[in-house]
Amino acid sequence: TKPDFEKEKERAALHAVGMVSDGMWVGLGSGSTIAYAVRALGERVACGLDIQAVPTSRKTRELAASVGIPLRDLPDATHLDLTIDGADECDPRLDLIKGGGGALLHEKIVASASRRLVIIVDSRKPVPRLLHAFPLPVEVIPLAIGVVSFRLRALGAGVTLRRLPDGTPFVTDEGNRILDLTFVEPPEPTELARSLEAIPGLVEHGLFLGMTSTLVIGRNSGADVEI
Ligand code: A5P
Repeated sequence: TKPDFEKEKERAALHAVGMVSDGMWVGLGSGSTIAYAVRALGERVACGLDIQAVPTSRKTRELAASVGIPLRDLPDATHLDLTIDGADECDPRLDLIKGGGGALLHEKIVASASRRLVIIVDSRKPVPRLLHAFPLPVEVIPLAIGVVSFRLRALGAGVTLRRLPDGTPFVTDEGNRILDLTFVEPPEPTELARSLEAIPGLVEHGLFLGMTSTLVIGRNSGADVEI
């Protein structure tokens, strides 16, 4: 049978939402897989689940508000108990590429403020090695696009400014731009992350290394999820 990826997303989402309990502060990621989790969490809230949630994008904020989830800004000092988010690629070390939807900056801040990061994906997302297929998104301050692109090319990256279907540049929730990076000879993720973090004007990159606590892969058949 053909895999039903929407079913897989929903199964992974339901599993993660089952990890939420009363009193928790919960980070909500972004993307189509997370939309299933937000709706399921809304149903649990309607049945009396008492939580505070911190969204990572305008879209997630709107969806969460529409299903009645109490929303908060990121707290000053205390940590979130759990963040549920999606990913574009994940490797056997549970390292990730994120930012396909353009929310990587906000997502990384919320993930870094969380005790646990639960990543939910369908069966297309796991890969043996990152950086071989899905382009790596990086968020850049608009005025720095030229200089940052130059330095990225010097690191061996192919650089593409992300655009909307109408041809205008994609603008992030924070007003920045996204460059999507490809590599003919993919570097080691940790080394690449270090190089990217040294480039002024590059605000954040989509490599989430050593951050995932639990990876939940939705399956279409057999066991519902793989942890
Ligand atoms: C958003 O910026 C991304 O990090 C998403 O988490 C990622 O693109 C997953 O999206 P889907 O669940 O729609 O595949």
